[in-house]
Amino acid sequence: MTLADNWRAARPPVAGVHVDSAACSRQSFTAIEAAARHARHEAEVGGYVAAEVAAPALEAGRAAVRTLTGMPNSDVLFTTGSHNGLDILLGEWTGERALACLPGEFGPNLLLMAMRGFQIRTLPVDDSGRVDVAAAAATLAANPPPLVHFTILGSHSGIVQPAHQVASVCRELGVPIIVDAAQGFGHLDCAGIGADALYSSARKWLAGPRGVGILAARPGWLTESTMLRMSYGEKNIGLHTALSVALGEHLAVGAPTMQTALREVGVATRAALAHLPGWRVVESVEEPSAITTLSPPDGVDPSAVRAELLAQYSIVTTYLGVERAPREMTRPALRVSPHVDVTAADLEMLAEALVSIAR
Ligand SMILES: Cc1ncc(COP(=O)(O)O)c(C=O)c1O
Repeated sequence: MTLADNWRAARPPVAGVHVDSAACSRQSFTAIEAAARHARHEAEVGGYVAAEVAAPALEAGRAAVRTLTGMPNSDVLFTTGSHNGLDILLGEWTGERALACLPGEFGPNLLLMAMRGFQIRTLPVDDSGRVDVAAAAATLAANPPPLVHFTILGSHSGIVQPAHQVASVCRELGVPIIVDAAQGFGHLDCAGIGADALYSSARKWLAGPRGVGILAARPGWLTESTMLRMSYGEKNIGLHTALSVALGEHLAVGAPTMQTALREVGVATRAALAHLPGWRVVESVEEPSAITTLSPPDGVDPSAVRAELLAQYSIVTTYLGVERAPREMTRPALRVSPHVDVTAADLEMLAEALVSIAR
């Protein structure tokens, strides 16, 4: 069986066409059952006794995060998602409240940074929104910010950012760097970036449950009191076991194998959607991510298209309003983000539906 066949067979049959992994992938039976089994065990033996039994599974999940981030000594927390991860990190920051990020920074991240009192500087990018590493290195060297916040893959485009190179520049300059890997973890190579801290959500490319995420930080980045608060605070152990299962399944496939397959999915998706009348694929066909952004024909509202795709064809996509990346997006778009089980027939159906709706 191929990776695609295994992926499909491992989860409930999809009702229609699901090309929405950048929003939320489909969990495996094993992950779903891990959460359900834990809930049952809580009812049988008591929630705190069940938590003790689950502890080794969660520790295996944390070890998987250390492997996948290439941060072998890191402190790993299970969070409620990427937003929570960023909030914890910004809350820990004791330095000057200013940071540099990309112009395509995720809108809700910008809101959180502003709420936490951070001044925002932007790094130089090319026309596609990809960081210009040489220019960014010069900008950072000329006026080093207290902190860099770097989003490896945005919510609004499939352009992969060279996080390894930017982290290396930061290291040379002694500027700490936090990586937002909400769209990168389980999708792109996140090992060996050399970030000081990295966070992600479980539900996206890793195909874990909603409502949980991961945060890995170099020792000393998270204060003792935050580690204690997180360990005492109430948490959904059942979902953490499901997340740990998804991490194990990812490692069993092999992160590089998954990355290659997802790159191929991105190429196939863009090739299938490249010539739709009036629509423009934002990324070049070969862009090494599985996210495809479609800019609509003039006069076509992508939020109505998203709704129509769902209602008429049971095709799940994402509407991208400009608030996703308010400093970069100028018009709304439609996002198509299949996982490895997408078929040529799925993409053909989507292409035909888009032509028919825009007509
Ligand atoms: C780039 C990026 N950062 C952060 C987030 C926030 O993730 P969460 O909803 O898990 O808090 C998202 C969610 O789509 C995202 O795409």
